[in-house]
Amino acid sequence: MPQNQNKVTYGIDRMAFYIPEFYVPMTDLAQARGVDPDKYLGGLGQENMAVLPPDQDIITMGASAAEALLTDDNASPIDRRSIDLVIVATESGLDASKAGAIPIHGLLNLAPNCRTIEIKQACYSSTASVRLAMAHVMQHPSSTVLIIATDNARYGLNAPGEATQGCGALAMTVTQNPSILAIDPEAGYLTKDVMDFWRPSYLDEAIVDGKYSARMYLTGLINTWGQYSGITNKTIDDIDRFVFHLPFSTMADKAYRRLCQHTDHPEDPAEYVAGKQLNQQIGNSYTASLYLSMLSLLLADDGSANNELTGHTLGFYAYGSGSVAEFFTGTVIDGHKKYLLPDYHHNQLTQRQALSFDQYEDYYRFQSKIMSRDQGGNISIPTVSQSAPFVLTRISDHIRQYARS
Ligand code: CAA
Repeated sequence: MPQNQNKVTYGIDRMAFYIPEFYVPMTDLAQARGVDPDKYLGGLGQENMAVLPPDQDIITMGASAAEALLTDDNASPIDRRSIDLVIVATESGLDASKAGAIPIHGLLNLAPNCRTIEIKQACYSSTASVRLAMAHVMQHPSSTVLIIATDNARYGLNAPGEATQGCGALAMTVTQNPSILAIDPEAGYLTKDVMDFWRPSYLDEAIVDGKYSARMYLTGLINTWGQYSGITNKTIDDIDRFVFHLPFSTMADKAYRRLCQHTDHPEDPAEYVAGKQLNQQIGNSYTASLYLSMLSLLLADDGSANNELTGHTLGFYAYGSGSVAEFFTGTVIDGHKKYLLPDYHHNQLTQRQALSFDQYEDYYRFQSKIMSRDQGGNISIPTVSQSAPFVLTRISDHIRQYARS
């Protein structure tokens, strides 16, 4: 589809993700929990689950994702002084008061004249951040907004949600006339006060009613699609690919199927399948998940005729339990491939190490320990990551200390 070259657009200019060096294969998890592996591989659609090691947290993962984007040698460098707003979207916040964006701003050596905040509304807060960033660049056209979606998804060892854990960070910049995706102003959005998934501040694991949360996810999709299509007069045929928030990858199949049934549209899996691969390897990354699906879709674009995404309309569904949902669209920009860091992202996935099951449980319990009031305030952290740009080195008097490695 041709793009109007003269139209001023707003949206995503750069993207990069960071995941820890460690994962557990879903077949190992299934064996250890006495579950048929096909349930995890086929039923949930997951292959591997990223695991947070002791020396990583939402700050180090977020700073590492942003560092990759800021130091991309293949693209024109981003002027760090143009970044005047940093937003961290997370539901794994480490502090009830101080924004996680502040230590990330420090680790990245960004300019002091910058606003830094943290936003919360479950997995939806990354999309709230994008909307806030777009409003900011509309007012300040030369600004660059850095958004970092960073999370550690924890449900508990042996809990029903354990197979949908995961972790990771996705950094993106929002600018005027972006290089990757121009986002449309129209959207359908919904707030519905439900207790499908939540984490009281005294817990380090989420409480979830899993089946109910999946129903609420689908209810939000139908509602926000209805609002969006009513405003725009668009139908499913106007959307070239769907990009979903993915708590686990077969959620995309359920969502697409439900939308097709609701709109009496024939199902064509080719319209959505490509965005699931990163989630299958990483698991749920909460706030990062929707934009990881988008990156997964764009990275899989090999330029072949039936897979060329330039100029195509992507339909996005964001869902944050609790709940807030949004359906919106964007157009893929000509030349976007130059900004996707394919080698860096490939290495992120292929240079990981599978943990033994005991190590996985040890790493999980270590996170519980450092999040506890009794033990977490003063603790030295073993360095286990070999190639992480940033590591957590110790916690002294409840202050986390970080180093560039
Ligand atoms: N072979 C193949 N498939 C199998 C199988 C086997 N042996 N055994 C089961 N399955 C299939 C089931 O049929 C089911 O598929 P369908 O849903 O298509 O029927 C799938 O595997 C999962 O099986 P169950 O529903 O029986 O699994 P469960 O009871 O263990 O619960 C879960 C699954 C609800 C997702 C649970 O892991 C959970 O609570 N996860 C956390 C919450 C969550 O992810 N919610 C999603 C929406 S909320 C949201 O999106 C926000 C967010 O990020 C949290």
